[in-house]
Parts: sequence; structure tokens; C-alpha cells
Amino acid sequence: MRLTVIGTGYLGATHAACMAELGHEVLGVDVDPDKVAALRAGRVPFHEPGLPGLIAKHTASGRLRFTTDYAEAGAFGEVHFVCVGTPQRSGSEGADLTYVDAAFAAIAGHAAPGALLVGKSTVPVGTAGRLAAALDAEVAWNPEFLREGFAVEDTLRPDRLVFGVGSARAESILRAVYAPVLAAGAPLVVADFPTAELVKTAANAFLATKISFINAMAEVCEAAGGDVGVLAEAIGYDDRIGRKFLRAGVGFGGGCLPKDIRAFAHRADELGVSLAFLREVDAINLRRRDKVVALARELCGGAVQGARVAVLGAAFKPDSDDIRDSPALDVAARLRLEGADVTVYDPEALDNARKAFPLLGYALSAEEALRGADLVLHLTEWPQFREIDPERAATLVGRPRIVDGRGALDADRWTAAGWHFRALGRPAPAGERPATGLPGEEKRRP
Ligand code: UGA
Repeated sequence: MRLTVIGTGYLGATHAACMAELGHEVLGVDVDPDKVAALRAGRVPFHEPGLPGLIAKHTASGRLRFTTDYAEAGAFGEVHFVCVGTPQRSGSEGADLTYVDAAFAAIAGHAAPGALLVGKSTVPVGTAGRLAAALDAEVAWNPEFLREGFAVEDTLRPDRLVFGVGSARAESILRAVYAPVLAAGAPLVVADFPTAELVKTAANAFLATKISFINAMAEVCEAAGGDVGVLAEAIGYDDRIGRKFLRAGVGFGGGCLPKDIRAFAHRADELGVSLAFLREVDAINLRRRDKVVALARELCGGAVQGARVAVLGAAFKPDSDDIRDSPALDVAARLRLEGADVTVYDPEALDNARKAFPLLGYALSAEEALRGADLVLHLTEWPQFREIDPERAATLVGRPRIVDGRGALDADRWTAAGWHFRALGRPAPAGERPATGLPGEEKRRP
């Protein structure tokens, strides 16, 4: 089939390349000529494992092309996928639909009669119905669930497909687009527009809630002297709860979960339904960043002013160079504002971090960041940080003090190597714990 993919950011570029991999002729469309030029040359402007290879393969085969021209896209495509961003509106919790509305209007103005316009962007419920009523073209909604770092895998082998359609014809067109994925056994849910839109926001809201739940348990563990890592393991054995997305730490960031829960709560308010708990989910998440800042102050004797702080990680999660709403950079910037001398290292996200936070210091390796540090903060759990040898690291720093903000380091190894080791939701080393006043306190710490 001949498909266009409008918007070539991380969702659109991945969708375009994966649709070519499924055997379709694909034309990627973007208003940004630089992005189009880069993609035409096979360059992917962000880090996504497996994507550069796929784009190179299909631009070379001629099955994947890119353009800035909507007229060309309209003449070419039988199905048009809209994959543009829906950032948080400035000064509001709600989603900014400017790009979605503009992309639909532009392609509708050029699409051939009978072409299907399919939204993939995450939108407030009601958007598909509004666009369908306003445009002289058939609309469908096909939300995506891909994770950065696994975007190719999640697109080619999704754990489900959701088609929000208003006609049997739209459903059969989408079935044809995804025929190889369906033949491989991916479950399909066919729904009306509002349900399809809500599936996406509900899924992200649930994931965010799960992370904030375990982070709230981390707060309780900190107050009561428990260990959230052990707690998560134990509750996770109950397969109704499950162990995934129960990693306590500095919390979620990125271009999706934070803005999606805000937009969802906002949209629910407009509909007269209270999703106030999502605001608490957001608040718990942000409090974890405060906690890391507070621990940094505590470990530096009350204030970080003048302290040399090494921050390991800048991306909002490993295997990504995405720094949107990154907890690591938020903490780094706040410590800098409090007068710390902050040096950040990240394997992939340094260029993006430098542009967004030019006042922070940057190192080209973890070793360079650690050299002379008074405090180390581990804030993005890249696998290579787990491989740092604590004994060697202790010889590099000025003072061996570390906060594991992702619960990913081996506390015993670091402590054995002489480090003063602290982690969120886990007990401070014996002798440093404040008395909780709880029953049993005397027995635990004679
Ligand atoms: C998220 C969803 O997982 C995808 O299903 C969805 O398609 C995507 O948003 C989207 O809406 O486009 P993503 O933002 O790539 O994907 O990242 P996640 O893997 O969900 O991680 C989000 C954040 O939660 C990261 O900062 C991560 O470090 C944090 N996290 C995750 C935790 O703090 N604890 C956990 O146990 C899991």
C-alpha cells in the first residue's frame, strides 16, 4: 500500500521505517526541511536503537522517501498517518493540539478522494470526533504504545493494536496496513473514537500511577525504616500486581507520561469527571526529585554551595538521548542554582543536555565526571554505570559519597569499597539512621 507518515519525530520516523519494513511504499512528511534532508541522507536526528539501520535500508531500496510537500503527499497516499507532537500547552495542564489540527487540515486539503486519515498522536478524548466532523475526509484513530529505546520492536511486534474507527471500510483498510503484524498474532481491539483515544491516555496514566505508587511506598519506607526494593520484589510476586514498573527512584520523566497525565486530568475536568488522583501521582513524582536534592544537601553537610557534584545520567531513561522533563537534569540544574559545581555525564544525551542547560558542566566520560567530586548522583540507570568499579571510583573522587537515585547499584559493593551510599526508599547504612520512634527500634539498632 502507499502510506504517508506526517511528522518525522521519534514516533513518525519509527512508524515510517517500520511500515516500509512491513512492505509498504512510504512517504514521510515534515514541515522542517532540515529534518527531511537528514532523513533523506539516512541520518536519524535522535538515538533509537535499530532505527538508523532500518531507515538506511529502506531509503536505499526506494521504499521510504521523505518530503516537505503536502501536495505530493496527498497525491501519493492511500492512508495518511498523523504522528505530530501534542506537547503541554504553555500556562495550562492541557495538550496543545496546534500541530495535530494543522497536520490534519493540511493533508485533508490535498488527500485523494477515499483516502483514510489516521491519527496516531496522543490526544484528549473527543479530538477524533471533532476532526471527523470538521474535515471532508474519513478519519480513524490508531494510538501507539511504543517506548523510546524499544520503538522499532514495539512497532513491528506490538503487544496490541487499537483501531478507533467509524466504519467497516476504515477497519478493513487498517487491517490491510497491519496485515503482517496481525498475522503474527498481535491482538487487535476495534473501538469507537473516544474509547481508542482513551486507551492510550488510560495506559499512560496507569503506568505513571504504578511508578508513583512504588515511589510513595519509598517515602513510607524512608519514614519507617523499610526497604522499598525488597517491598517491590515481594508485592511483585503477586501476578495481579506484577513486577514491571515498580522500580522506585527519582521518578518518571520524558515527553509522554508527565504531560499525558496532566492533559488527562485537565480533559476529565472539562468533562465533569474528577481524576484528582493523577495530580497526586504527579506530585509524588516531583517530590522524589526534591528528595534527591535534600539528600545531596544532607550528604554535603547541610548545603551544596561550593560542592563538586558529579551527575551520572542526563537522559530521562537509559537507551535514549531524550532529555524532555528529565529528572536527572532537573536535579542537576537545581543543585547548580544552589551553588554546586555540577558536572554531568551521559553516554548519549550530552549534546541535547548542553543545548538545554548550557550552565551545567559536562564531562566526556564517567571517570572524568567523577574526578574530584564531593558527591556522586546516579540518576539515569545506563547499564555502564552499573559496571563502574566502586574501588577504582573511590580513587577518583574527592569524597566517596553517592546517592543511587535509581535503585540500580549494588549497595553492598559500594559500601564495602568505602563509599557512603544512600538510595531512595532504602535504609541508610547502620549508624546513620535517624531514630524513627517506631516499636522495635531498640531491637533493630541496639
Ligand atoms: C511511555 C509508555 O511506556 C509507552 O507505552 C508510551 O507509548 C509512551 O510513553 C508514549 O506515550 O509515547 P516512554 O516515555 O518511552 O514510554 O518511557 P517509559 O519506559 O514508560 O519510562 C517513563 C519514565 O518512567 C522514565 O523516566 C523511567 O525512568 C521511569 N520509570 C519507569 C520509573 O521510574 N520506574 C519504573 O519502574 C519504570
